[in-house]
Amino acid sequence: MKIGIIGCGYVFDHYMATWKRHPRLELAGVADTDRARLDRVCSFHGLRRYDSNEAMLADPGIAIIVNLTSIESHFEVTRAALLAGKHVYSEKPLVTDMQQARALAALAAERGLALSCAPSNALGDTAQTMWKAVRDGAVGSPRIVYAEFDDNVIYLMSPEGWKSRSGAPWPYLHEYEAGCTFEHVGYHLTWMCAIFGPVKTVTAFSKVALPDKTDLPLNPADTPDFSVACLDFHSGVVGRVTCSIGVPFDHRMRIIGNQGMLSADTYRHYQCPVFLERFSKLTLNARKSYSVRTNDLLAWPLGVGGRRLRLVRNAPPGADGNFIETLRPIWHPRGLIARLRRRELGQQDKCVGIAELEDALRNRRPFFPSPEFTLHLTELTLAIQRAGTLGSAHVMTTSFTPPSPRPETLANGPDYARAARPGWFTRLSERVLDRLHQH
Ligand SMILES: NC(=O)c1ccc[n+]([C@@H]2O[C@H](COP(=O)([O-])OP(=O)(O)OC[C@H]3O[C@@H](n4cnc5c(N)ncnc54)[C@H](O)[C@@H]3O)[C@@H](O)[C@H]2O)c1
Repeated sequence: MKIGIIGCGYVFDHYMATWKRHPRLELAGVADTDRARLDRVCSFHGLRRYDSNEAMLADPGIAIIVNLTSIESHFEVTRAALLAGKHVYSEKPLVTDMQQARALAALAAERGLALSCAPSNALGDTAQTMWKAVRDGAVGSPRIVYAEFDDNVIYLMSPEGWKSRSGAPWPYLHEYEAGCTFEHVGYHLTWMCAIFGPVKTVTAFSKVALPDKTDLPLNPADTPDFSVACLDFHSGVVGRVTCSIGVPFDHRMRIIGNQGMLSADTYRHYQCPVFLERFSKLTLNARKSYSVRTNDLLAWPLGVGGRRLRLVRNAPPGADGNFIETLRPIWHPRGLIARLRRRELGQQDKCVGIAELEDALRNRRPFFPSPEFTLHLTELTLAIQRAGTLGSAHVMTTSFTPPSPRPETLANGPDYARAARPGWFTRLSERVLDRLHQH
């Protein structure tokens, strides 16, 4: 199934970084209204260029359009693609207006076309591991979920000089104008909603906390750069998600149940380790100690922070079962650097969402995220961004049928219920602690 990409800016190079991981994704060519940029990516990546969006949409060989344009172009580009009879995969957020979001979903349904949207991190091994562990009962009954999206103190890191591999500048002014909630909250909402289902109400606060982040004029000047939202899920779970670009890097994902806690350091690394801390009187009492909380050598033997789980390791959608990730050998200087980069900075596979869509279309099966799921995420994102300093409580009007983890996860993933069973040391220490508490 041939694919055309519209929009070849900064994020385009991220897609190109893992495109070859998906042998079934056939890139027909690219289009962009910025001629110089189009020339540059075509020569850098050796791609076919289309002289206009219309020329690409008129190509009968292309089945899927991937919309990587700037947020304000999402609606017109996605709409034009649907009208031309193409399935669409869009970068997030789908659009910034619920009426437009509903219109796109209706148009796609009316024409029998698929409409899918980034982010794709819920399909990554880390999120799939957490998802299966919750379903296996590893934390007992899940009660509370915390998600941090503090994307560093960006304005002190010279973002005006950042460039993608083929030289596209990071559009930092545009990112300030769109705001970190539009840009980032979807990464956390997607796995939270995938695992815990639709949200009943969202109560949020948002504000410009960094009015001096640039000397240049912003339009609009008052887009929030800090937001926090509490989510009340229909499933009974409650969640809290925070976004900012003024706090040092913190992307933690934590799921807390009545028997334990799952945690991962970042959504951005699709194979980021997941830890399971099974609550016991030992771990909960040990946490009271300052030295245990601040010293890994003491925390580990006492079970504080948990044990590392064996990750679900899935081949990309559409890849055959013999799929093996190919990296240069570790003794090759570039192989070593690639591994270090991946370990320390993370490895996203932004193309996995496109591969999921392509595989679903080929096999006539439902795809993740469904259009209903995307509408729900869009409504949540808008409610959080627009909450303002007096806060707002919003009753959700959209919903979706809760999805399942990937079939491969359910078939081949480890049994996390076993990992949650308390060992002899925990059982023994519980008895000792009970005795100590009887004064
Ligand atoms: N920058 C990031 O780090 C990042 C990361 C993840 C996702 N995203 C998302 O990716 C999307 C693009 O972001 P970006 O950083 O690449 O922006 P960018 O400004 O670097 O690139 C956008 C490209 O789209 C082109 N474009 C705009 N309107 C168009 C139209 N109507 N037709 C054809 N081309 C058009 C522009 O000329 C530009 O080359 C956004 O939705 C953003 O939220 C960005």
